[in-house]
Amino acid sequence: MAKDNVFKVGDIPIKSNLILAPMDGLTDHPFREIIKRFHPGIIFSEFINAYDYLNNHPFFPQQIVFSEEQRPFAYQIFDNSPYRILQTALYLSEKNPDLIDINMGCSAKTVASRGAGAGLLQEPQKIKQILTLLTNNLTVPVTAKIRLGWDDTSLNYLSISKLLEDYGCAMISVHGRTKKQGYQGKANWDAIAEIKQNVKIPVLANGDVNSVDDIQNIIKVTNCDGVMIGRAALRNPWIFSGLDHEQVTLKQRLDLLSNHLDLMIQFYGLESGLILFRKYIKFYLDISNLGKEFRSNLYNQNDPLKLKSSLFTIMNTQIN
Ligand SMILES: Cc1cc2nc3c(=O)[nH]c(=O)nc-3n(C[C@H](O)[C@H](O)[C@H](O)COP(=O)(O)O)c2cc1C
Repeated sequence: MAKDNVFKVGDIPIKSNLILAPMDGLTDHPFREIIKRFHPGIIFSEFINAYDYLNNHPFFPQQIVFSEEQRPFAYQIFDNSPYRILQTALYLSEKNPDLIDINMGCSAKTVASRGAGAGLLQEPQKIKQILTLLTNNLTVPVTAKIRLGWDDTSLNYLSISKLLEDYGCAMISVHGRTKKQGYQGKANWDAIAEIKQNVKIPVLANGDVNSVDDIQNIIKVTNCDGVMIGRAALRNPWIFSGLDHEQVTLKQRLDLLSNHLDLMIQFYGLESGLILFRKYIKFYLDISNLGKEFRSNLYNQNDPLKLKSSLFTIMNTQIN
């Protein structure tokens, strides 16, 4: 799956066409340390709120940590103010990321309804302003992640993509849904194909990629330069190595899960590390049919060794 120099973003060679999607609260430094072992072509941060930088949010310093091994690494920023985005991008560019990405696709009410994320799709003039400010003031390539439009009656993905290209955007990632769809319905790969046909900069296709077959299919339909993978990477990080969930042994999964927990504790400390690790459990394992009491014990476990032991037991029973 991974080839040498599959495509370039600006001057940066990208060595695999499989890309880790940004996911708020999930693609943090410890998770990216896990994922880097599978060598995705680009690793995105979770989105960074420009307000958090400007207001010295206590979590901000932790949120922007990344390691050399995570390169090519992209910081993603969201806000509705071009000047706040610029200030944050200038600060983040001092950390020497490979790319700065602007979120133009988040569908969450708290983000989109204040004109950030997918809200920006309704304001092409503001997109021009953001790209102009960033490309004039940064040396790092600027990229964007979009959806197809606000809703079915405002599918402006082609005009937005061309505008992005005209104003110096170095790559576009496209989640093939509208803001209104959220995560419902099928991702529209044909629309992503249309974008790819109409711009010269690299395009990443995103949405409804759950298996190695899906990767082949989305490339066939869209002819995109790369495939951005989100939730499937949480369930099966091996997807970046071209392996489906069933092709990975129980021991491999247990080792990874155990490593991930250790990294969370090292990075966030024992208490926070354990609490923050809990949200990954439902991706690693199907625990929906375990009893309420068992699940509650799992989520309230304060001893990492006992937590690992319970998770190993569940994994074993699910396999056998
Ligand atoms: C929990 C969660 C958090 C997300 N956070 C972000 C984010 O911070 N920035 C962003 O551009 N997209 C975000 N997304 C969207 C994903 O990057 C991706 O576009 C979407 O999940 C569809 O891809 P998938 O089907 O491969 O998961 C998030 C998605 C999920 C499920």
